[in-house]
Amino acid sequence: MIRIEGLVKRYGTAEALKGLSFDVPKGQVVGFLGPNGAGKSTTMRILAGSLTPTAGRALVGGLDVATESVAARRLIGYLPENNPLYEDLMVLDSLRFVAEARQVDKRRRRDRIAAAVERCGLTQVLGKDISQLSKGYRQRVGLAQAIVHDPSVLILDEPTTGLDPNQIVEIRELIRELGREKTVILSTHILSEVQSTCSRVLIIADGRLVADDSPERLTASGGEGTLHAVVASRDGQRLDAGTVTSAFKAVPGVTGVESVASDEADTLGFVLRFGAEDPRRALFDCAVKQGLVLLELRRTQVSLEDTFRKLTGQSAQRKVA
Ligand SMILES: Nc1ncnc2c1ncn2[C@@H]1O[C@H](COP(=O)(O)OP(=O)(O)OP(=O)(O)O)[C@@H](O)[C@H]1O
Ligand SMILES: [Mg+2]
Repeated sequence: MIRIEGLVKRYGTAEALKGLSFDVPKGQVVGFLGPNGAGKSTTMRILAGSLTPTAGRALVGGLDVATESVAARRLIGYLPENNPLYEDLMVLDSLRFVAEARQVDKRRRRDRIAAAVERCGLTQVLGKDISQLSKGYRQRVGLAQAIVHDPSVLILDEPTTGLDPNQIVEIRELIRELGREKTVILSTHILSEVQSTCSRVLIIADGRLVADDSPERLTASGGEGTLHAVVASRDGQRLDAGTVTSAFKAVPGVTGVESVASDEADTLGFVLRFGAEDPRRALFDCAVKQGLVLLELRRTQVSLEDTFRKLTGQSAQRKVA
């Protein structure tokens, strides 16, 4: 449904996109991540047909957005970064204006506007000026404008930026609902958003694609992992961190043990690293043998933040240098 082929974008001498390519099949909801200045908005503007690339092309539904722009734009709903709206228009008038500009058939206009209003929960504010609206409602207006012509592809550039946590949940819910019937690409800096909304994540850094995977795979630790353990003595004897550390180090599968602070009195905390073999069962046996009670044994997952920083950190540093 979306095809990006070797996109290059130069602003003067600066190269914002350095040959970006990816495909998005119909119905997928894709999260588009990257640090500030990575080229997300540039890509989305090109995809929406509002910016021409220096090289390469963008196709939506098989149509080139640059050379077949009128037909392509019918398929595209676009919520630009910072959601620029006509402040002094009434909500309803702004939707009429957009429906007309988007060439929605005259006879269908009323129905399409009504559907977008209902979808985005705007009934209460139809008669208000946009300048009077809260940020959350402005975002809903932006989304209603993006879907008024019933596009099959939605391009949403940071749709939840600047919203409070309640509004974020509401807008996210709305996007998820829209994602059931549309192909969606959304950029965000909120990594948890991607985990709750998207089935696929694209990460770009410095104008290049650095990751393309499911959120689950990007947070899987690839066989290796970390365990957090808290132990107490079974018979009330004083615990010795050194002795426990040595015992845990000898457990098959464990590749590293570090004694850490524990918040509970008369307990000891440990961080254990392991390789391909999961050592949890063997650790339990070891604890029993040592006269220890294992109060806690928790596997800590790699966060999407960790993956993001790992994949984009280097190029961010390069950029600063
Ligand atoms: N109109 C412009 N003129 C010159 N340079 C620009 C212009 N727009 C963007 N850039 C540059 O292109 C690069 C990519 O910008 P872009 O806005 O696409 O990044 P982004 O990933 O959307 O960042 P953010 O997360 O901050 O929104 C940046 O280095 C930016 O400074
Ligand atoms: Mg941006």
